[in-house]
Amino acid sequence: METLDLQSKVHDEARQGEAYAPFAFDENQYKKHFYIESYGCQMNFSDSEIVASILNEQGFGATRNVEEADLVLLNTCSIREKAEQTVRKRLTEFRKAKDQKPGLLIGVLGCMAERLKAKLLEEEKLVDLVVGPDAYRTLPGLIEEAETGQKAVNVLLSREETYADISPVRLDSNGVTAFVSIMRGCNNMCSFCVVPFTRGRERSRDAYSIVAEASDLYNRGYKEVTLLGQNVDSYYWVNDNGSETVTFANLLERVALISTDLRVRFSTSHPKDITDEVLFTMAKYENICKYIHLPIQSGNTRVLQLMNRTYTREWYLAKVDRIREILPDCGISSDIIAGFCTETEEEHQDTLSAMAYSKYDMSYMFFYSERPGTLAERRYTDDIPEEVKKRRLQEIVDLQGKLSKESNQKDLGKTFKVLIEGNSKRSDDDWMGRNSQNKVIVFPKGNYNLKKGDYVQVKVNDCTQATLIGEIIAI
Ligand code: 5AD
Ligand code: SF4
Repeated sequence: METLDLQSKVHDEARQGEAYAPFAFDENQYKKHFYIESYGCQMNFSDSEIVASILNEQGFGATRNVEEADLVLLNTCSIREKAEQTVRKRLTEFRKAKDQKPGLLIGVLGCMAERLKAKLLEEEKLVDLVVGPDAYRTLPGLIEEAETGQKAVNVLLSREETYADISPVRLDSNGVTAFVSIMRGCNNMCSFCVVPFTRGRERSRDAYSIVAEASDLYNRGYKEVTLLGQNVDSYYWVNDNGSETVTFANLLERVALISTDLRVRFSTSHPKDITDEVLFTMAKYENICKYIHLPIQSGNTRVLQLMNRTYTREWYLAKVDRIREILPDCGISSDIIAGFCTETEEEHQDTLSAMAYSKYDMSYMFFYSERPGTLAERRYTDDIPEEVKKRRLQEIVDLQGKLSKESNQKDLGKTFKVLIEGNSKRSDDDWMGRNSQNKVIVFPKGNYNLKKGDYVQVKVNDCTQATLIGEIIAI
């Protein structure tokens, strides 16, 4: 997907502090209200915005107050066992709220829907509605069914659905940065991963609808779009009569051409699929951010083979070299799994050395969690004891902390173009923004008359492991 985990640092920062988009939340014209919570990857957050659009059409307004809601939805994640446990706990709490308000409908959306539909509906009677990621268009009918007391379910996966024509309603937006989904599903079959089963086959969205959505965001004042997909580099769209094909590099260029003032990001890249053409397109346009999320998962070739990642350690490291060659100032981050089936201490050391070689600015790090139905569950034994997994993960986390600090220290004294996203978490006297490399920079507002969505030149004077600290030197 490699989606970003719950919740990416990136997203947390973006959400903090700022006012929520008024158009999504303070509409009084709606008689009914829905409350939605999203878990897991960025894709799920993006899907919730599609759901919000479908529900608005049906006369449901969004609310951030559960007590006001007629419909409570949880957009769920199955990627690790912990994510599922969190959702179950939350559902039990909502189920109790229903005792006070019997008409309240509770629904599960997203990746847990298919896997747990029978259990959630029948055995545990926790929910009224279960809707899979490709069935959101059927929500209106399902809500009607649920309102009459029937259990409403649609978890069918589709080979075509991309929701291309649905204009997402931005939820919890800072008004500056937005996510645009460019494809759905995944064909990769990494052996640890449940996503191909919960989200189905890969399909690419109509390139014109993507460019139209990004242009519309820009016209509404947004300054950054992140193109989202489980594996964006395999984006490939062909028009109806086959006369036009669009690769990911082509798409990036089309979005970059909307305006030099609109930043473009993307996530996630699979090391096997990211091409030189993509790297050269990034180099050509200043507004395509110099940041690549390139999950390694493991630094050992035997483990990578068991994971079905289809590259070797050497191949991955050569890809990092190529990125540094074409884009010398590019930020690189990773996803890493500790303690996959049969992983030895030496193989774990290979992961640490690959991290050190790649000098990641940031990583999302996990210990292996066996998922039902995956290739790994069927073929291999989850044989690394939990305490060993946790210890290896801690070593990975410690090393990443060191690498992040070193990477930030290299930026001391440098000046970056920063897009202001809002107030800093700590103080309303400081702005928080990001540079092209996706690093968070905090700096005093001073006497400048700036607002979020503005670009500003910031010189870095100090840093922590996670944040650069600077001052405005020019606007
Ligand atoms: N156990 C642990 N981590 C996993 N991921 C995916 N599946 C699993 C699993 N079963 C991680 C991968 C992926 C990220 C989104 O989550 O690193 O890239
Ligand atoms: Fe990502 Fe692999 Fe899972 Fe696809 S199968 S979502 S590429 S981890």
